Amino acid sequence: MNITPHPPLTRRPAQTTLIATFGLAAMLVASHAAGNAEGQAKAAVACNVCHGQNGISTMPNTPHLAGQPEPYVKDQLKAYRSGKRAHEIMTLIAKPLTDKEIGDLAAWYASIEIKATVKP
Ligand code: HEC
Repeated sequence: MNITPHPPLTRRPAQTTLIATFGLAAMLVASHAAGNAEGQAKAAVACNVCHGQNGISTMPNTPHLAGQPEPYVKDQLKAYRSGKRAHEIMTLIAKPLTDKEIGDLAAWYASIEIKATVKP
């Protein structure tokens, strides 16, 4: 009788890790996309009037938010909310925002691709 050798045990954990990694990546992508959609919807009603439709502000005293790194936007909103960073308008706007809303907004603005062109 022919006995087939058992496949080496080392292969199994590697496959498991691979599957786990892909699973996690898929989850991260899904949650990121959802955050963007909710952030976009929130921005439309609460932020666009000053920061512009896609985070490109048309007001000279209001910064662009498009393409800003997610951790930066998050930190600034939390700083306004806590009072660490003070501004007459943004302090009021950030006050009622939940951590989830801040995360969604930051994900939305970070997801907008911007391109810089230097004039010759
Ligand atoms: C009425 C106008 C107005 C609205 C509405 C508004 N902002 Fe602002 N925002 C400003 C101004 C003006 C500044 C600059 C404040 C400063 O100098 O600290 C600012 C600054 C910021 C900054 C800091 C940017 C940086 O470069 O450091 C973030 C982040 C921000 N706003 C996010 C938001 C989000 C998110 C919303 C919606 C929930 C929102 N803002 C709604 C006027 C507004």
